[in-house]
Amino acid sequence: VTSAVPLQYRQIFLRQRPDGIPQAEHFGIRTVPTPELGEGQFLVRVHYLSVDPAMRGWLSAAGNYFTPVPIGGVMSSFASGEVMLSRHEGYPVGARLMGMFGWQEYAVCDGSEVKRRIQDADEPLSLSLGILGLNGLTAYFGLMDVGRPIAGDTVVVSTAAGAVGSAVGQIARIQGCRVIGIAGGPEKVRWCKDIGYDFAIDYKQGDLGSRLSALCPDGVNVYFDNTSGEISDAVLPLLAVGARVAVCGTASVSSWSPWPMGPRVARHLLVKRARMQGFLCMDYEARYNEGIIALKSWIKRGRLKHREDILDGLERAPGSIADLYRGDNAGKRLIRLVA
Ligand SMILES: NC(=O)c1ccc[n+]([C@@H]2O[C@H](COP(=O)([O-])OP(=O)(O)OC[C@H]3O[C@@H](n4cnc5c(N)ncnc54)[C@H](OP(=O)(O)O)[C@@H]3O)[C@@H](O)[C@H]2O)c1
Repeated sequence: VTSAVPLQYRQIFLRQRPDGIPQAEHFGIRTVPTPELGEGQFLVRVHYLSVDPAMRGWLSAAGNYFTPVPIGGVMSSFASGEVMLSRHEGYPVGARLMGMFGWQEYAVCDGSEVKRRIQDADEPLSLSLGILGLNGLTAYFGLMDVGRPIAGDTVVVSTAAGAVGSAVGQIARIQGCRVIGIAGGPEKVRWCKDIGYDFAIDYKQGDLGSRLSALCPDGVNVYFDNTSGEISDAVLPLLAVGARVAVCGTASVSSWSPWPMGPRVARHLLVKRARMQGFLCMDYEARYNEGIIALKSWIKRGRLKHREDILDGLERAPGSIADLYRGDNAGKRLIRLVA
């Protein structure tokens, strides 16, 4: 086993704190020696790195839920891989894991980084970062627990073709809802329809408010909001009485400081007796297993489709967050380190 472990490996570190959306030049790449493992430690060979819009927040000092990655620190990231060397009884060589291993080829761990063990030998490691990881779980808990869909509801989803959004739309369909997706560009609109959205709108064509209004004569019962900004400005006036708005992400807001001003929504919430609630997937950590079981069973029955958008090589990671904010990804964006 020892012979398979290299003497050194590469990692991506934060060179300079970004002001807005992180770009490639904010990161550096360096080679470090593989350390000797201490008692209770193990070494994970990382196969896939996750790229998530939220990573922008992990670098920002403004209004956040994590201590920002320090200058010179390894970029934090969900990742999946396999234990190569171990001095920890609980994590033997060969264990397949998903956790916060960071943007690096190998990670020295003590178990605190691990989020999930991938037990099924035939489950691809990439799925634990997408449909069976942060994205699928965010869709599941955000929709079911915050959005609380009821059969017959009209559900509107922004970033409808994305990793989270595409799962939300399909889960809402499984709940018997009428589902409308909002996505950027004709290819994404087509994919939304392929996976079962009743309607999909390309917001880049303009006039979103009136097109959406025509599709929602009885209003919007659930809005799963991944963007905030102008898309939400168009959706919120259309809420139905008793609507639920699950605030999942703010992908359309390019600057957090100052936060852009927009229409004030209090009147819509008041008149429609609507509830708007933010949530973080990690709040549901104690219930992840429930979510994984549901997602797996829908995938198995062909009711939940997903797609992955994979780039090869660690050097692709630094520019990959900005790609998401240009909408360049078609599905879950991953970096593959092991072919
Ligand atoms: N609350 C949580 O715990 C949690 C967890 C995971 C993710 N999220 C949030 O969920 C959302 C989706 O994440 P994801 O990982 O599934 O990524 P994703 O949707 O696969 O990729 C991001 C997408 O955002 C859209 N976008 C980028 N800039 C935009 C703009 N200016 N206006 C409108 N849309 C824009 C693009 O889609 P188009 O091409 O369609 O514009 C892009 O493909 C993000 O807001 C993320 O922060 C929240």
